[in-house]
Amino acid sequence: MNGKFVNKELNKILLQEEFTKDDIVYLLSLEDEKSIEILFARADKIRKLYCDDEVHLRGVIEFSNFCEENCMYCGLRKDNEKVPRYRMRPDEIIETAKRIANQGIHTIVLQSGQDFYFDSDMISFLIYSIKNDCDVAITLSLGERSFEEYKAWKIAGADRYLLKHETSNPHHFSIYHDKQKLSTRLEHLKYLKKIGYQVGSGNMIGLPLQTIEDIADDILLCKELNIDMAAFGPFIPSPDTPYQNKSAGNAVLTLKAMAVIRIVLKDVHIPATTALDTIETKGREKGLRAGANVLMPNFTPNPYRDQYQIYPTSVRKDLDPSLSGIRMQNRIESIGRKVSQSKGDSLKMY
Ligand code: 5AD
Repeated sequence: MNGKFVNKELNKILLQEEFTKDDIVYLLSLEDEKSIEILFARADKIRKLYCDDEVHLRGVIEFSNFCEENCMYCGLRKDNEKVPRYRMRPDEIIETAKRIANQGIHTIVLQSGQDFYFDSDMISFLIYSIKNDCDVAITLSLGERSFEEYKAWKIAGADRYLLKHETSNPHHFSIYHDKQKLSTRLEHLKYLKKIGYQVGSGNMIGLPLQTIEDIADDILLCKELNIDMAAFGPFIPSPDTPYQNKSAGNAVLTLKAMAVIRIVLKDVHIPATTALDTIETKGREKGLRAGANVLMPNFTPNPYRDQYQIYPTSVRKDLDPSLSGIRMQNRIESIGRKVSQSKGDSLKMY
């Protein structure tokens, strides 16, 4: 096939309103540079239409790395005894939240392993205290918890919940996870949505066994769940896990997946993940140019930060918030975008 013919076919698909699984597989499979450029340009155009040039910052606090789960890919899995475990004290968490808010960041992400030491009341206390002190939105990212807890935390003031489905393939899901099931994960996502959370989900690109068709299903699942944020980042092998010798996900495939999400789902937030920045030079900038409109800088204070080893910290190049956000702002402005001053609620709310 000559290039012209491919571009005609590609342009025709890109202008469709609805996309079949075959269309998505076609877009994810594009290989030549020119076609990929056309895909990213279309995603960028739709991003501009729905999000303008604003980039939303979400300040992440990784407040506990204890985890009850044993996910094959994750460095924080329960069986990994090499990880020194920590829990931040509530006053440290609240202080960190204030530090984030003082930098003009309007979303705080409370993230941890699945750690039931932080029970319903403790999390409610954190939400309530932070909301009382700071004018911010709160995202919880605490793994699968009980429906009663989700409800209590919503009442305490939480706005959003981030729970990645990781894979829409039920067979793969049960291989990657010890006891958890995809059907349960999906029930949780639907319940969170039903009680009014803005919900984030997503997958990892390049997990063992994953095919392009699986990624297409992941994108269609996000559409079906009507999620508010889609976080697709590359898998990075983590030492002392069963997948330590597997290959990392491919950066271009990750960027293509992000672009396709923007084109197919349109009114969703899409982060350019830290994992992408880790495996790819200027990964965040490339993500922001391929459909993304969100960055999630890490504010976890030392000595905890280095112990939150989902994947190797030696390769984790977080945006350094200690630079008063100026570097972050520079990176955003260097590509003609600007830091949003709003809380960055779901695009479906407008
Ligand atoms: N590489 C990249 N991302 C990972 N996560 C867990 N382990 C890895 C890894 N090895 C992601 C998962 C999970 C979140 C906490 O981190 O998507 O939802």
